[in-house]
Amino acid sequence: MRVFPICNLLSLAVTVTAGHLPPRNYATHDYYAIHLSESISPAEFAAHLNLSYDGPLGALDGHHVFKAPKHDNDIVEDAVQDLMRRRRKRDVGVGPHPLDSVKYTQKQKIKPRHWKRSVIPPPQPRTGPPVTEALTQQREIAKKLQIGDPIFEDQWHLFNTGTRKDLNVTGLWLQGITGKNVTACIVDDGLDMDSDDLKDNFFAKGSYDFNDHVDLPKPRLVDDRHGTRCAGEVSAVKNDACGVGVAYDSKISGVRILSGDITDMDEALAINYQLQDNDIYSCSWGPPDDGRTMQAPGILIEKSMVKAVQEGRGGKGNIYVFAAGNGAASDDNCNFDGYTNSIYSITVGAIGMDDTHPYYSEACSAQLVVTYSSGAGDSIHTTDIGVNKCTSQHGGTSAAGPLAVGTYALVLQVRPDLSWRDIQWLTVMTAVPFGAPGDWEKTSLGRSFSHQFGYGKLNAGAIVEAAKTWKNVKPQAWFWSPWMHVRKEIPQGDQGLASVFEVTEKMLQDANFERVEHITLTMNVEHTRRGDLSVELISPDKYTSYLSTARKDDDYAAGYVDWTFMSVAHWGEKGVGKWTVIVKDTKVNQHTGIFTDWKLRLWGECIDAAVQKPLPMPGEHDDDDHNATTTATAHTTSVSIPTEMPTVTANPSDHPNRPVNQKPTTTHSFNSPTTAAASSFPSSIPENFLPSPFPTFGVSKRTQVWIYGSLGLILVFCAGLGTYLYLARRKRLRNDSRNAYEFEVLDDAGDEYDAHAGMLSGAAGKRGKRAKRGGELYDAFAGESDQDLFSDDGDDVGAYRDDRDYDEKAESTDEGHRSGESEEGSGSGSSSRVRQ
Ligand SMILES: *[C@@H]1O[C@H](CO)[C@@H](O)[C@H](O)[C@H]1NC(C)=O
Ligand SMILES: *[C@@H]1O[C@H](CO)[C@@H](O)[C@H](O)[C@H]1NC(C)=O
Ligand SMILES: *[C@@H]1O[C@H](CO)[C@@H](O)[C@H](O)[C@H]1NC(C)=O
Ligand SMILES: *[C@@H]1O[C@H](CO)[C@@H](O)[C@H](O)[C@H]1NC(C)=O
Repeated sequence: MRVFPICNLLSLAVTVTAGHLPPRNYATHDYYAIHLSESISPAEFAAHLNLSYDGPLGALDGHHVFKAPKHDNDIVEDAVQDLMRRRRKRDVGVGPHPLDSVKYTQKQKIKPRHWKRSVIPPPQPRTGPPVTEALTQQREIAKKLQIGDPIFEDQWHLFNTGTRKDLNVTGLWLQGITGKNVTACIVDDGLDMDSDDLKDNFFAKGSYDFNDHVDLPKPRLVDDRHGTRCAGEVSAVKNDACGVGVAYDSKISGVRILSGDITDMDEALAINYQLQDNDIYSCSWGPPDDGRTMQAPGILIEKSMVKAVQEGRGGKGNIYVFAAGNGAASDDNCNFDGYTNSIYSITVGAIGMDDTHPYYSEACSAQLVVTYSSGAGDSIHTTDIGVNKCTSQHGGTSAAGPLAVGTYALVLQVRPDLSWRDIQWLTVMTAVPFGAPGDWEKTSLGRSFSHQFGYGKLNAGAIVEAAKTWKNVKPQAWFWSPWMHVRKEIPQGDQGLASVFEVTEKMLQDANFERVEHITLTMNVEHTRRGDLSVELISPDKYTSYLSTARKDDDYAAGYVDWTFMSVAHWGEKGVGKWTVIVKDTKVNQHTGIFTDWKLRLWGECIDAAVQKPLPMPGEHDDDDHNATTTATAHTTSVSIPTEMPTVTANPSDHPNRPVNQKPTTTHSFNSPTTAAASSFPSSIPENFLPSPFPTFGVSKRTQVWIYGSLGLILVFCAGLGTYLYLARRKRLRNDSRNAYEFEVLDDAGDEYDAHAGMLSGAAGKRGKRAKRGGELYDAFAGESDQDLFSDDGDDVGAYRDDRDYDEKAESTDEGHRSGESEEGSGSGSSSRVRQ
């Protein structure tokens, strides 16, 4: 229903071409990304609030961009709040109002800069002379394929004459599989389309510069080399310039976002730009790898990715490749990065040319695969900016990602009909485990998985051969558990607090769910030092995912807030049975916390393709399962098992003291499991042996019994006191929890990172105060507000509940900083450093 038909006339004045939005000018204007219902035209809406309408927000249905001269407040949000207030006071009628059409609004803020993920290790002598026989073979192949590129013989990742440890790609080229008809898009700091090594493969239509708002993503800043180097790895032309790309007949486009101020809206536009023509998006960047950051893409970006996997590439879904991250030396883990731990992205880590772990490459349960990069005597040799320029210095996980991108281009040449999930399946099935020490363990699918190396190293020949006969998987289904309310203190040290959810066969049948691919686990943990925490998930098949690991530099004072972890380690499991999550507080110190709640999501293949519907867009559907929480039971148990995720590999040469952790024993001794109704708090007391006010003296339960037993009556008195203190503390935490979403200033990335990485640092800037709100998108994705968590004080939003997305936003305003965006989206101005 049109509310103000007369305003339709205004829309005639707005001529929005199908192409680009007018260039943004963040110095003079504020921009609003708004999702409107169909009850109003964008022009009508603009007229109502005296905004200018810029145009639709890319491929996102119903989303529009409006602007207004720069102003301190949020015009849209304020108007919405005002309307709500007036409605509560019954100042206005209940009739329709133009603002009712707002399903989601976000005033755009400049994002902190992403980090490029290249690390250039100190130069080392290259190991081993070429083997004559291999050298001869390499030259024969080059001759047959007429590869005359001057640095081809240095491109060891394509054909390693020393060890034959390489991508195994040349056999495919000999079959004519070179990436024809496939386009990869490098989302980065530009792409030198005038380079002799790229210009013949450059695809202008798939390219755009979101920093300078011009059509071509030409590198303009002195350090805008990264994207061009990545592009060369994928698609450098077979000619007389530099080397060749893995898929040297593919098309290559560039979207420039890393070289200037952007907002969530810009990134949302960039990340599925020309989603029918760009097949694969290559992303070698992400939130800071400083061991202290926990950031996820904002909801608009998440929507863009969902849109791309559902509708891009003719409905087969675009392929996203993300570099795992270079923060391993700072204890960073790719599960603290909402891009790499998205189910829609393929996370690619790095190995050195000798198949060892380079000190920088992050581990996590969301990592699918690894491939070659810098680290053991050489780096990646590729195209550089300039007419005919090469570099021998490309590295980090930044350089690993594009090799996977090139490989997937080869796969798509052979099988353009494969879906984004088929590509992930093929990766799981054909990646090659190798000799490097790691926590390799057989999965239910019979594959070996390691948190450090994913399913192993990418083998181009193997994945393409398998792709030729691959049977497409059925559409995606999902099963979500209710929120499991735990609300118990986490014991410190090598203990853990476990909570179990049992998935039944019937639940999965009802969800049309056949077998697991990804699992995600969203959780809330209150804690005064985030870096002390770790989280494990044990599947019904007894595979342990180390979802989160302790981080020495992460002093953040608020635990996990609706953070979503992901694991690919359960790929192929049935999913039926007990899923156990164990939260640990690994350090015995003054920092303590409470495991509040969690929600498990299984994602995988459906049973019956005919009835399976696509996932609704995140945040736009109302499938609240709040009510289910009251009936679910959480079994909490104290366990006594080692705390460390088995990290691996040799010490990096520059970190001689970095411990090599032992793999934990896999036998968990569950002590006295008790059942507690989830809703029974506060009558239940923590199930660790004694309430937390008691020291455990770091001794076994038996010894504790002896100590405390002999203290007899004193114990009884103390137990009473302890319980009282515990409950008082719980209450305080609950009351404080709404204020806990905004925390401390994060200083700019540590200089020690530079020292570790031995690389150049870009301009350093002070990052401003940030609202930490990780994982919002996943939460919204679930169609789940946090209201059930704090239901006792959520009544102020009760008056206006006709749209879920809206509720979240409404709630956010009450809390100051809980808007529907990630912490990243809400970061204020000022660039952090960019690394090259
Ligand atoms: C509407 O916005 C324009 C600038 O975009 C401003 O010049 C004008 O005064 C505004 N009108 C009202 C009624 O606020
Ligand atoms: C490329 O795509 C076109 C149109 O889809 C098709 O006709 C052609 O055979 C393809 N070429 C290759 C080499 O796959
Ligand atoms: C290398 O690739 C070829 C296809 O080009 C494949 O047949 C072969 O099995 C691969 N080698 C290994 C060791 O996987
Ligand atoms: C949840 O419970 C409330 C009242 O207890 C009811 O009105 C509502 O329909 C329920 N929602 C669902 C999804 O079952």
